[in-house]
Formats: sequence, C-alpha cells, structure tokens
Amino acid sequence: MNIGIIGTGYVGLVTGAVLSEIGHVVTCLDINEEKIDTLKKGQSPIYEPGLDEILVRNIEANRLFFTTSTQEAFAHADIIFIAVGTPQGEDGAADLSYIQQAAKDIAINVDHNVIVVVKSTVPVGTNDIVEEIIHANMTDDFQIHVVSNPEFLREGHAINDTFHGDRIVIGAENAFARDKVESIFKPLNIPIMHTNRRSAEMIKYASNAFLAVKISYINQISNLCYALGADVNAVADGMGMDHRIGRAFLNAGLGYGGSCFPKDTEALAYLARENDVKLSIVESAIYANDEQRHIFAQKVINHFKGKILGKKIAILGLAFKPNTDDMREAPSIMIIKELVARGAVISVYDPVVKKTSFLDDIEVSYATTKEECVSGSDAILLVTEWKEFIEANWTELMTFSNNGVVFDGRNILKF
Ligand code: UDX
Repeated sequence: MNIGIIGTGYVGLVTGAVLSEIGHVVTCLDINEEKIDTLKKGQSPIYEPGLDEILVRNIEANRLFFTTSTQEAFAHADIIFIAVGTPQGEDGAADLSYIQQAAKDIAINVDHNVIVVVKSTVPVGTNDIVEEIIHANMTDDFQIHVVSNPEFLREGHAINDTFHGDRIVIGAENAFARDKVESIFKPLNIPIMHTNRRSAEMIKYASNAFLAVKISYINQISNLCYALGADVNAVADGMGMDHRIGRAFLNAGLGYGGSCFPKDTEALAYLARENDVKLSIVESAIYANDEQRHIFAQKVINHFKGKILGKKIAILGLAFKPNTDDMREAPSIMIIKELVARGAVISVYDPVVKKTSFLDDIEVSYATTKEECVSGSDAILLVTEWKEFIEANWTELMTFSNNGVVFDGRNILKF
C-alpha cells in the first residue's frame, strides 16, 4: 500500500521504517529540511538501535522516501498517518496545534480519497476534531475517514516493539476504513483490537498512566523499604510472581522521565479536571515522581551533613533511560540542578549523550570516560542504568574516587 507519514519524530520515523520493511511504499514528511536531508542519506537523527539499517535497506529498495513537500508525500497515498508531536501546554493540556496543522494540510493538499490515521497521542475526542477540520477545509468532495491507531513503542526498543507489540489498537467509526488500516499491519502478526475512536484514544493515556502509577507505587514502597531495612528488589520480585501484578515496571529508582509518561499523565489529569472527574491516583503518581528526585538529591546532601559546597559529585548517566539519547524530563537534570544550587561541583558522563542543551545554563564538566568522570569525586551517583555501568568493574572504578561513596539511583548494583 502507499503510505504517507506526517512527522519524523520517534513514532513517525519508526512506523515509516517498519511499514516499508514489511513491503509498503512509504513517504515521510517533515518541515525540517536538515532532518529530511539526513534521513535521505539513511542516517537517523535519533539514537535508536537497529533503525539505521532498516532505513538504508528500504531507501535502497525504493520503498522509503523522505520529503518536505506536502504534495509529494500525499500524491499517491492510500493512507496518511499523523505522527506529529503533542507537547505539554502550560496548563498541562496537550498542545494540539501540530495536529490541527496536519489536518489542514491534508484537507488542502489531498486530491483523492484517503484514510487518515492518527498515531500521535491525543486527548479523547481529538480524532473527531481532526475529521471536522479536514471536512471544513476540503476543496473537493473526497471521501476521507479518520481512524485512531495509538502507538505503544518504547524508545530504545522501538523497532522490536513495533515488530512484536502486544497489541495494535484500531479505533474506527467506519468498517471500510477499519479493515483497510488492519490490512496494513497484517504481516506483523500482532493481535489487533477493534474499538471506537474515543476508546482507542483513551487506551493510550490509560495505559501510560497505569504504568506511571505502577512506577510511583514501587518508588514509594522503596522509600519505605529503605526506612525499614527491607530490600525493594526482593519485594518487587515477590510481588511480581503474582501474575495479577507482574514484575514489569516494578523497578524502583529515580522515577519516570522521557517524552511520554510525564506529558501523558499531566494531559490525562487535565482531561479529568476539565470533566469534573477525580483522578487522584494519577495526580499522586505525578507528585510522587517529582518528589523521588528530590529525595535522592537530599540523600546525597544529607550524606555530607548539608555541607556539599565544593564537593565533587560524579554523575554517571544523563539520558532519561538507557539506549536513548533523549534528555526530555530526565531525572539527571533536576538532580544536577539541585546539587549545583547547593554548591556542588559536577562532572558528568553518559555513553551516548556527550553534551546537552538541557544543562546549558548549569556549570558541569563533561567527561569522556566514566573513569575520568569519577576521578577525584567525593560521591558517585548512578543515574541511568546503562549496560556500561552495570557491567563495570566497580571495585576498580571506585578507586578513582576519593572515598568510594556510591548512590545507586537505579537499585542495580550488586555490592
Ligand atoms: C513509554 C511506554 O512504555 C510506551 O508504551 C509509550 O508508547 C511511550 O512511553 P518510553 O518513554 O520510551 O515508553 O520508556 P519506558 O521504557 O516505558 O520507560 C519510561 C520511564 O519509566 C523511564 O524513565 C524509565 O526509567 C522508567 N521506569 C520504567 C522505571 O522507573 N521503572 C520501571 O520499572 C520501568
């Protein structure tokens, strides 16, 4: 099938790459010319294991194209995916301006019948709005259906998640459009769930918020474990053996970050407030998540009995989680800011994030190796659980520091 994709962020790019890999002809559209030029060369602008190979293979096979031209992207498209960002607005609500613009672009530029699939995470009711915008701006009487198809991929595992997801959710109000969208994904052999558009939109938010609640829950339990001398990893293992609970997403640590959980929990809480519905569990998860970073920073400050001025702190890991270069809502940012505000001298090392604009206004020194980072430090903070850190020889690594004090923000070290 011929597919157009608006937006080459994580979701759009990985979706485009995978759909071309299973035989569709895909044209990805983005307004950023530099990004499109990079992509045309088969280079991914994001760090995502396995993505470059798929890009190169399908560009060479003439199944994957990149363009900044709306006409080119839509010219032969049977289906157009909207995969643009829905960033968090000031009041916590999702900012839908990119979605609205995409809907207008489709209405103005499409010259044939087409199915529009909304992949971006959007508040309940947005697919209806997209359909209204398209119909209000259409220049001719084409048949256009809008279908919701939320994305569940994780950064760092995006390719694998897209090929081997637990489910594909298709929210449609029209059987023809539903079946056509289903047929795109058939080769993936993933269970497909049919529902209406509003429920599909809600499945995405409710899933992400549930996982966020699970993380905040285990983090608060871990704080209690710490106070009472219990081992949160053993507690999580024991809880996880109950199949009704499951072990996944029970890793206690510095809380969730990234481009999805923080934004989606806020957007869901906002939706609830707007509709006079209590969603206190999600509100509490947000609060607990924020608090978790302060608790960690405070533990470090307390270790030095409040006298952290001039102390050299080594930060291992900047990205919000391993296998990504994404710094959005990374716990490292807040922890570093809090320690710098108290006068600490910060040295950082991340296997992939070599420098970040998120720390532009903060004085930190970027080390090129973990050993350099730790050298002469008064405390080592493990912030992101990269494999390089998990597999490091810590006995040796600690000899580079002044005293071998380690704060394991991910409960991962075994000594
Ligand atoms: C998440 C969802 O998993 C995915 O389905 C959705 O499409 C987008 O949001 P992502 O943000 O890429 O994906 O990362 P994920 O691996 O889910 O981790 C999210 C955050 O939770 C990270 O900050 C991670 O460190 C944290 N986390 C995860 C924990 O603190 N403990 C855990 O047990 C699991």
